[in-house]
Amino acid sequence: MDCIEVRRLTPELVETHRKQAYVALNGEGCDLKSMRKSCFAVETCGHGGKGIELEKLLGSNAFVAVDEVDPARPTFVGCICAKITPSYIKTLFPHDKQPNGLMVFTFCVAEEYREKHIGKRLMEEMFKLSERSAIPLYLCVAIAPQNGDPDCRHEYEYRVPRLFKTYGKMNFLHVCDCDLYSLFFWKGR
Ligand SMILES: CC(C)(COP(=O)(O)OP(=O)(O)OC[C@H]1O[C@@H](n2cnc3c(N)ncnc32)[C@H](O)[C@@H]1OP(=O)(O)O)[C@@H](O)C(=O)NCCC(=O)NCCS
Repeated sequence: MDCIEVRRLTPELVETHRKQAYVALNGEGCDLKSMRKSCFAVETCGHGGKGIELEKLLGSNAFVAVDEVDPARPTFVGCICAKITPSYIKTLFPHDKQPNGLMVFTFCVAEEYREKHIGKRLMEEMFKLSERSAIPLYLCVAIAPQNGDPDCRHEYEYRVPRLFKTYGKMNFLHVCDCDLYSLFFWKGR
């Protein structure tokens, strides 16, 4: 694990990691295995959306983790980005709870690298960004699928309590819920 580097996302890193990142982010279908293994198939399949592409993160505050154990064949490990909370996200939540600051998006560690504190290392970049710019940090967890697909629903039941635990360990406070999302606020160190 010593060969994992966290780097600011650049167009060159997008070129190198585009394909691997697509699979880690979106899986290879909407079957239960893909939803369990990939980072966001359960959300894209549940919401009927398109897959996430690494390229779309350029222009935000974006970072990738890369395994460079074989420098000739670097492997995509994970990614994260943050941007000023878009207004459509703010309006999902009650007026007095609306997030005003940086919002974390596309937080992903490829399945074979999870629970090795790589997510924490990626999130650390967001903590530093929030501290440096003195802007509060938020994230949202999708807590239910928009469609009634039983596989999606089953997967959310597995995923949501796990994410609540992970974010608790990273010092995020659960602020409130709307029907499809829970909002979290970073309490600081
Ligand atoms: C969420 C995610 C990025 C976390 O990355 P990770 O590298 O596995 O997380 P870490 O190893 O840094 O874990 C951080 C803390 O959470 C805990 N944690 C991680 N996964 C956990 C799990 N499945 N159950 C309970 N606790 C867990 C870790 O033990 C660690 O706590 P510690 O510091 O006390 O040891 C990763 O699980 C993932 O990509 N999931 C799929 C995509 C996703 O759900 N993204 C978030 C959308 S809101």
